[in-house]
Amino acid sequence: MENPYAGHLAHTPYTSLYHSPTGMTITLLAKKGGVGKSTVCLLLYEAFRKAGKSVAIQDWDAQGTSNKALGLLNGQRAEHGQTYDILLIDTPPSLEHAATAAAVRSADIAIVVTSPAPADLWEAEEAVRFVQAKAPTAVARVLFNKVRKNTILGRLLSESSKTVEAQMIPVNLSARECYQHAVGQGWAALDAAAREEVLQLAVSLMSLNNTVESEQSIETV
Ligand SMILES: Nc1ncnc2c1ncn2[C@@H]1O[C@H](COP(=O)(O)OP(=O)(O)OP(=O)(O)O)[C@@H](O)[C@H]1O
Ligand SMILES: [Mg+2]
Repeated sequence: MENPYAGHLAHTPYTSLYHSPTGMTITLLAKKGGVGKSTVCLLLYEAFRKAGKSVAIQDWDAQGTSNKALGLLNGQRAEHGQTYDILLIDTPPSLEHAATAAAVRSADIAIVVTSPAPADLWEAEEAVRFVQAKAPTAVARVLFNKVRKNTILGRLLSESSKTVEAQMIPVNLSARECYQHAVGQGWAALDAAAREEVLQLAVSLMSLNNTVESEQSIETV
């Protein structure tokens, strides 16, 4: 499927194009590839849609995973000039890419997606510092994805959270095969436990909206 941004990523004035002035913009990012940015993006898209929100995805990764999934689901790509309750931005697996910086500058909430493995956590902290440098008014949070509760790493999760300087989202996403199927099949692919988990994540992000407002007002005092 054609990605309109492929090849133009370094030249597009992203910030002015798709910033959502009235809704909430959530950017998914990571320094590393394969941590689950696009999967989380799609799951949140489905959860917010289920919750009756107007929601669209802006895919700024030339791989176009989110755009491809939206194509299969007949979903909503962000359109120029439109505003949505929630705008989700998917990014390339690099902090050096112009698209990642622009997506972070557009964000009300920037979510750094990571596995709970220590080496991945160090990269996540770097990504949080990147957000703080590029977009001081954005709320930066770390999300643990692909968590396996019955493993040592899973059991040590709350301990690992304490070692991270950045703030964590209180809901983790488990490693679930149905999340893999959701990219392409959407909400219908999720079992009850997965739906509950994803909805809880969406709710915790909605509640961050207040944090966005209060942290932004602190910045402007
Ligand atoms: N919670 C999860 N449970 C099981 N599999 C997952 C989960 N999250 C992501 N995956 C799988 O991990 C792989 C990478 O996911 P995804 O493409 O979303 O990562 P990404 O960070 O967007 O990658 P890239 O950096 O290449 O864009 C995919 O096979 C996806 O299905
Ligand atoms: Mg991706």
